[in-house]
Amino acid sequence: MKILFVCTGNICRSPLAEGILRKKLQLLHVAAEVDSAGFEAFHAGDHPDSRAIATGKKYDIDITTHTARLFNTLDFQNFDLIYIMDDSHYNRIKQFARNKADMEKVDYVMNLVHPGQNYNVEDPWYGDINGFEEVFKKLDKACGILSEKIALK
Ligand code: 4NP
Repeated sequence: MKILFVCTGNICRSPLAEGILRKKLQLLHVAAEVDSAGFEAFHAGDHPDSRAIATGKKYDIDITTHTARLFNTLDFQNFDLIYIMDDSHYNRIKQFARNKADMEKVDYVMNLVHPGQNYNVEDPWYGDINGFEEVFKKLDKACGILSEKIALK
């Protein structure tokens, strides 16, 4: 199973989701590929935001080695499941999708917790560290459900 998380800059939300899911799968002894990407190039090649790193570290999740990269069309081929964070990402990824099968791989990450509600994981970039804590808690819930689903496959 190959899972990709996508957000705007690939320095806050999606690297945290990647780190959280990777750790949960390790604990369950499940082999899977987990990656993350973003839609904007502002931070491509950068390591995650220091607030995202600090929040991960608090929960023993190390995301320091991640480097931000852009989402590209090949990701539809390379991944089985693609999770986006908010409405802007849904609109962006639709423009990359080549067919219906591509879009069938895509869902809002919070639909794992609240199916069909399309709840957003808000961009924490402009806020303070508390916003990152909120993001972490949401992603932790979603990744908990996802890791169990993958383990049962
Ligand atoms: P992310 O957060 O999409 O969760 O990585 C952002 C990071 C940077 C920017 C926007 C969102 N930015 O505009 O630079």
